[in-house]
Amino acid sequence: MNLQFPNGFSWGAATSGPQSEGRFNKKHANVFDHWFEVEPESFHNQVGPDVASNFYNSYKEDIKLMKEVGLNSVRTSIQWTRLIDDFETATLNQDGVDFYNNVIDELLANDIKPFINLHHFDLPVELYDKYGGWESKHVVDLFVKFAEQCFKLFGDRVSEWFTHNEPMVVVDGQYLYQFHYPKVVDGKKAVQVAFNLQLASSKAVAKFKEVNTNPDGRIGIILNLTPSYPASDDPADQKAANFANLWFNQIFLDPSILGEYPAELVEILENDGVLFEATKEELAIIKENTIDILGVNFYHPHRVKQPDVSPDSLRFNWMPVKYFDNYDMPGRRMNIDRGWEIYPKALYDIAINVKENYGNIAWFVAENGMGVSNEELFQDETGVVQDDYRINFIKEHLTELHKGIEEGSNCIGYHLWTPIDCWSWSNAYKNRYGFIANNIHTQVKTIKKSGHWFKDVADNNTLEI
Ligand code: BG6
Repeated sequence: MNLQFPNGFSWGAATSGPQSEGRFNKKHANVFDHWFEVEPESFHNQVGPDVASNFYNSYKEDIKLMKEVGLNSVRTSIQWTRLIDDFETATLNQDGVDFYNNVIDELLANDIKPFINLHHFDLPVELYDKYGGWESKHVVDLFVKFAEQCFKLFGDRVSEWFTHNEPMVVVDGQYLYQFHYPKVVDGKKAVQVAFNLQLASSKAVAKFKEVNTNPDGRIGIILNLTPSYPASDDPADQKAANFANLWFNQIFLDPSILGEYPAELVEILENDGVLFEATKEELAIIKENTIDILGVNFYHPHRVKQPDVSPDSLRFNWMPVKYFDNYDMPGRRMNIDRGWEIYPKALYDIAINVKENYGNIAWFVAENGMGVSNEELFQDETGVVQDDYRINFIKEHLTELHKGIEEGSNCIGYHLWTPIDCWSWSNAYKNRYGFIANNIHTQVKTIKKSGHWFKDVADNNTLEI
């Protein structure tokens, strides 16, 4: 059976500047560059971001490979620490300007549409040290200055812009669960950082609307959506799932698309004494500057149950786990290497949720993928990784997505994480996700079986199941 996708569907893959470029010629350090310098043992096999997949040096060859696996669109991010020389004034680093101009031109020359993101966890460490990073509204304004430079420099050729990738990961990783530097545990700060990230996004949207001259230009945000399913019909489990959806999903979805925070979430945070500080003017900016397009990263759902009295919620000033516990549902399918559940139907649920509750805004799958360790074990005698598991994973997700599209959801594309195996935040090169394998010792890149398969799907705009 063949599943036909809408005309003009974006078949692509996503990466980010800090995970692919390497630190070559980069004047400033971001928080991850710094973290590796001070704590290399926190990174898998002590592999840091210095080389990544060498995209800074090999972007031409890499883009050629991207073309060979059929991509008609690719997302990457512009590194604040590469483009900008002085963060206060947003003066430019010419080498960074040249590099991103070259990348964008090379993508276009290969008929690949650039999707450009501005923040992928890579806050300049200087802004953390001086101001507390996203805890500070001054940093919000510095981000908008950086964004303005990007819109003006590249907006003639880039039509698809995104403010942040997965802002919730900054909140969770840096301010609650200590999996990203600086590993603070502070619920009140976490909530303020979530607000400041939203404000930065909305202010960047406002700036885009002011300076954009590209008639096709549009701007959005990329959110990691994790539909949260209750463990049972018990109202206490349902209540827990409702909170998890508010916290993980609606906290950015609602203000970004509807211009307002969910009243229920605001009430809970207020009652708990951790509501963010926001002025009337800031709330008005959020209200007026909603996005044009939504990127959805989908890897796994959440399964939740009513909380036991969690020691974590008592130990710290506030923790969201006060309202739910994770539920290890018996028999669920897991990607053991990454520890994430595989549940493609959640993508259909997302498609319908966006259609029914968010005005059927244009959206696309901005990341989806399967991280596998030790993939070299799956190489055949010619060195090609036989990643049938990835092909099946993509097929299952595309099938659910297609069902959502058939039912009217306005999904305009599907991007795999990632085109070429790349470096990742402390997981380094542990989990491989790409259509193209990267030998991190030799930097030799080889298309996997999934890459050849995907080219067929993309070229025909059709999935055979
Ligand atoms: C996504 C991020 O959440 O997950 C990517 O946007 C990241 O930056 C990807 O690389 C995979 O995560 P990991 O830790 O398995 O490499």
